[in-house]
Amino acid sequence: PRELGVAVLGLGNVGTEVVRIITENAIDLRERIGAPLVIRGIAVRDLGRDRGVARELLTDDPASLIRRDDVDIVIEVVGGIEPPRELIRTALELGKSVVTANKALLAEYTGELAAAAAAANVDLYFEAAVAGAIPVVRPLMQSLAGDQVERVAGIVNGTTNYILSAMAETGADYETALAEAGRLGYAEADPTADVEGYDAAAKAAILASIAFHSRVTAADVYREGISSVTAADLASAAKFDCTVKLLSICERITEADGTERISARVYPALIPLAHPLATVSGAYNAVVVEAHDAGRLMFYGQGAGGAPTASAVMGDVVMAARNKVHSGRGPLESTYASLAIAPIAQV
Ligand code: NDP
Ligand code: HSE
Repeated sequence: PRELGVAVLGLGNVGTEVVRIITENAIDLRERIGAPLVIRGIAVRDLGRDRGVARELLTDDPASLIRRDDVDIVIEVVGGIEPPRELIRTALELGKSVVTANKALLAEYTGELAAAAAAANVDLYFEAAVAGAIPVVRPLMQSLAGDQVERVAGIVNGTTNYILSAMAETGADYETALAEAGRLGYAEADPTADVEGYDAAAKAAILASIAFHSRVTAADVYREGISSVTAADLASAAKFDCTVKLLSICERITEADGTERISARVYPALIPLAHPLATVSGAYNAVVVEAHDAGRLMFYGQGAGGAPTASAVMGDVVMAARNKVHSGRGPLESTYASLAIAPIAQV
């Protein structure tokens, strides 16, 4: 089968892990997709730094990279609104499928970008944009598409959860915990986005949009961050067998006259230690979905960090690649082709 060309935009916390997975898992990915994935180029800002990847793959000209005829899929892990917005729109218009982890962009421009993808009949996937490794976008968009989602609530920012957990569990101070979250690759390039709740609000907008089949932007989300939460607040919470978590809550609200509205809000909340969300520690996230017929579902896992996020990116890349190779019909049989079955006693 022909090769599928990939352009990777960004080689930071997430991009580095994406490139590692494409390289290390090349044979398995080829079997799952039905064609080899080949990296055509990697866009960065600073060409001077040694990155541990083949020098000839690097470019500081993403606009030219996405235009190459041998690029089929563009992976955007740069962050921010521009240039990603222009690059993604152009890539889609040129018939490339796009996978992005960029929640800040999607919280404003999903409508515009989804329209460009639909017009070109290509994929725009963004599982990694909400809650890192946790599959929550696809379950809401696909698995629950026949149900009526009433509420999506939980912890969707790893950095703030890491800081609040460290303050509550080990008595770490706010600044030290924030610096550590940055060092571990959890925080945004500007961590104000994390601690002031902008990142969680962007994710709430994305979740509300897909859960309620609506168009919610970050500006529609009520937002408070954690920068004013003190060690004394956490100590007081502990006295009442509670802790503080930055919650993101999206609900469908029916008014007395039958009018339906969407409420989306992000704020630090006092929650009882016995509540499942109280046990979510470090950069883990958890999202509870309540749907009319499914009832309550809980999604839990690593919400930030290079490798967990790259896992979600790569799931989308495999889906987009399969669609390119097989016109939307995944080659399920090839997924199972290569593994010998171990006798049960050895498993
Ligand atoms: P980083 O800041 O670590 O990496 C950004 C990369 O983009 C760098 O390699 C940088 O180049 C490159 N870059 C920046 N501007 C340009 C430009 N104009 N042209 C070409 N390359 C450019 O970010 P992360 O990897 O942490 O995050 C990437 C995206 O993934 C963001 O949208 C973020 O919100 C999202 N995300 C991140 C998660 C995480 O845990 N880190 C989790 C989920 C989503 P250079 O190296 O030269 O500076
Ligand atoms: N900065 C984000 C967080 C990355 O801490 O959750 C994952 O989206």
